[in-house]
Amino acid sequence: MDDSIFFQRQSKRSYLDREIDEDVMNRLLEKVRWSPSCANKQPWRFVFVSDPAQKLRMAGALAKGNHWALKAPVLVAVCAREADDYTREDDPVAYYQFDCGLGTMGLLLAATHEGLMAHTMAGYDAPKVHEVLDIPEEYHVLCMISLGYQGGMDLLDDETRKKDEATGTRKELNEIFSFDRFEF
Ligand SMILES: Cc1cc2nc3c(=O)[nH]c(=O)nc-3n(C[C@H](O)[C@H](O)[C@H](O)COP(=O)(O)O)c2cc1C
Repeated sequence: MDDSIFFQRQSKRSYLDREIDEDVMNRLLEKVRWSPSCANKQPWRFVFVSDPAQKLRMAGALAKGNHWALKAPVLVAVCAREADDYTREDDPVAYYQFDCGLGTMGLLLAATHEGLMAHTMAGYDAPKVHEVLDIPEEYHVLCMISLGYQGGMDLLDDETRKKDEATGTRKELNEIFSFDRFEF
């Protein structure tokens, strides 16, 4: 099986002014739907925003440093509530949030597979996102994702281009993986 989507997936910031076809979007949704979750709770709720008026309102909710994302044809809010958690007694873990991470990775990889670029963001004003998208108070907004076709660097302002030009780094293998014992 081709492993290229793992290495092609990148969080860049330039988007083409190009809509996403309905069949592409439908294939993407179907892939994300099959993401794994603790006790199969499927706690994620994905709100897809493409209506121009709603996107305009989202400008007031995204951090200024993330305004490049408004050029993407679609913004996604990933939401979940504690009531949909799988609760464990011995070590409280927020599995409903953990599951949203899995669903989000599913979306990022499905997007890459469809030739799209998806970029996760934590830089937004959560109460404003709640207000614009009518999200009930009991739901957290875990992240926003911009979704669309990647554009060239020439479409970016200087500040954003500098961020995009920064090469990604990763911790060394021995900093994040150990074998047979927890050794870090
Ligand atoms: C939960 C989360 C929040 C993030 N928030 C932002 C953000 O607000 N703005 C931004 O430009 N990038 C954001 N990123 C992107 C990360 O900076 C990026 O994933 C990381 O630098 C690794 O780069 P790569 O995704 O291209 O491999 C976020 C990523 C995650 C997973």
